[in-house]
Amino acid sequence: MGSKYFEIVHRDGLARIGKLSTAHGTLTTPAILPVVNPNLRLITPSEMKSMGAEGIITNGYIIRRSPELREKAERSGLHSMLQFDGPIMTDSGTFQSYVYGDMEFDNRGMVEFQRKIGSDVVTILDIFSRPDFNRSEASDAVRETYRRLGEIEPSETSFLAGPIQGSLFPDLRRKSSRLMGYSHADYLPVGGVVPLLEQYRYADLVNIIWNVKRYGNKGKPLHLFGGGHPMFLALAVYLGIDLFDSASYAKYARDSRLLFPDGTRDLARIGDFPAWSPLHGRYTVKEVISAEVEEKTLLLARHNLFAIFQELSEVRERIHEQNLWEYVQQKTHSHPSLHAALEQILRIQGGLEAFTELSRRSPYFHFQEHSRGSLFHRRIKRFAEKFVSQRETVRILDTNYRHEGIREKIIEEYEKSSVAFMIPWNGIHVPLELEDTYPVQQVIGSGESNSTTWIRGVMRQYSLQPHDGEVGSKVRNFNLQKLRTIAEFQFGQGIKLFPDSTEIRVSRNTGRIRTASVDEKIMATLRASDGFLTLTMEGAQAMRASITPPRLSVVVSEESAGFNRKGYSVFFKFVDRFDRHLVAGNETLVLDPEEKLIAVGRSRVSGMEFGDYTRGVAVDVHHSVEGRDEDETD
Ligand code: GUN
Repeated sequence: MGSKYFEIVHRDGLARIGKLSTAHGTLTTPAILPVVNPNLRLITPSEMKSMGAEGIITNGYIIRRSPELREKAERSGLHSMLQFDGPIMTDSGTFQSYVYGDMEFDNRGMVEFQRKIGSDVVTILDIFSRPDFNRSEASDAVRETYRRLGEIEPSETSFLAGPIQGSLFPDLRRKSSRLMGYSHADYLPVGGVVPLLEQYRYADLVNIIWNVKRYGNKGKPLHLFGGGHPMFLALAVYLGIDLFDSASYAKYARDSRLLFPDGTRDLARIGDFPAWSPLHGRYTVKEVISAEVEEKTLLLARHNLFAIFQELSEVRERIHEQNLWEYVQQKTHSHPSLHAALEQILRIQGGLEAFTELSRRSPYFHFQEHSRGSLFHRRIKRFAEKFVSQRETVRILDTNYRHEGIREKIIEEYEKSSVAFMIPWNGIHVPLELEDTYPVQQVIGSGESNSTTWIRGVMRQYSLQPHDGEVGSKVRNFNLQKLRTIAEFQFGQGIKLFPDSTEIRVSRNTGRIRTASVDEKIMATLRASDGFLTLTMEGAQAMRASITPPRLSVVVSEESAGFNRKGYSVFFKFVDRFDRHLVAGNETLVLDPEEKLIAVGRSRVSGMEFGDYTRGVAVDVHHSVEGRDEDETD
């Protein structure tokens, strides 16, 4: 068993907080590894640590080329040489060979050297696929990089970084991502992107990262080579990048430029250092301008590194609160190139949706301008479209339908009618039955107009107008319809959980549904937090009867089944089969090898990612056949 592993502890769509454990300690991702040039000492690694750097990156090629550094590193090890006891990644010289055109070492020798000096993440000598490469050059870079990876044996103690190349060709990026992702490389940097980052070509970067992420191995850490500018950090993390290295703090400092969360500014043009800067209140701009070059560079480098770590901590917090998307939208208004990147993200929303959780901890912010860009808006809109298109007529409610006195009448009317009742919601209309589910209830909108254009559009095929309601005898029960519609939204069509005989218990205070029982057995509870169903074993049993495995389920090995029956969680390594359409955070059946139901829980990841993880909990079991039945009324 090696001392290296990568585990996800928290997520917000493709963005995640992870733990990368190395022989020299653990890195929390997303992480930024500041570049330490062993020849040019600026900020010391120990000062970097005090500023928030849990790990650093340096260059194995530069060390090996210098007789003095090489001797020192070979004798006392990399960590002692740099006086840094945390994780250290080393690069191989690929970038230097791209900039200066020469390379006197071969791949095997470079890897061997990095391992010998005790690097925690060792990079092969890959081929830098420049953005101006033609297809054949880019394809050669992908092929040769993969061939070189094949020359290297895996290591138990250090991560092996296998860079993903392919220039601007989406299919080559996909191919490279698949090849490296499913090889013995255990760490995946995205290479060949520095020129794009330098030219603010963020829309191109979105394309590259998406192709790499979508088609690659999501269980391995993904690194963006050279991507440490605070402007682009949130977007890159949103698309699933876990690690960055940054030489920009030093490079910009040498050019008398300062990093800010929204861009770069010239020292000569600013009036004062911002309040968050370590230089604020300690130096005037004039003093820094007139300082000796070395001193000036050091001060600006401190400011720049601080700006990077400050942005990183904001991004991590956003993942924790599950509102990184809102932050991304904010960031993309700070520079036209970032706005172009947002446009690109909007084009891939269909693909991103598969990675989105059922609900989040934070409310959904609806911005009119980008309504088509919200994954939650998309999800509910798609359901609403299907819902109304199956009806011949609808009743459109006013926004004030919840008001006391009005609501009772509406429900009475609903129960005497068989048409769809729709509520206006941020420019579209959604089924009344979903009123309490995420994000219908948990939304902060911008007051977008609630015209009926959208619904008329959806209904045009029937040439019918919105209906005004009918009066008759009671033909349906609102709460029962509500449970069925929520189940359909949450699990899809054809899941029969709630027969006509379902008894529904509601909260005396709020009137909201708490539990649904059949034959005095609770089938499901309705969560107050997001309005979705939590299944009991009885409910899970009914769901099992309406599906063909592995729909909505995971099939575990016999080794695991014994534990899961007793209520223990399911680990990735014991999952033999799973539904590719699982939604992260949704109810998931746990089946034994004979496909018999043994437990039910919530999946931690989406079906798109499931097969890539080998470590950690896959499904948090909340009810099981031999477990204690918890009373889950919340
Ligand atoms: N540093 C910046 N870009 C690259 C790259 O593509 N490969 C390697 N090894 N290092 C880099």
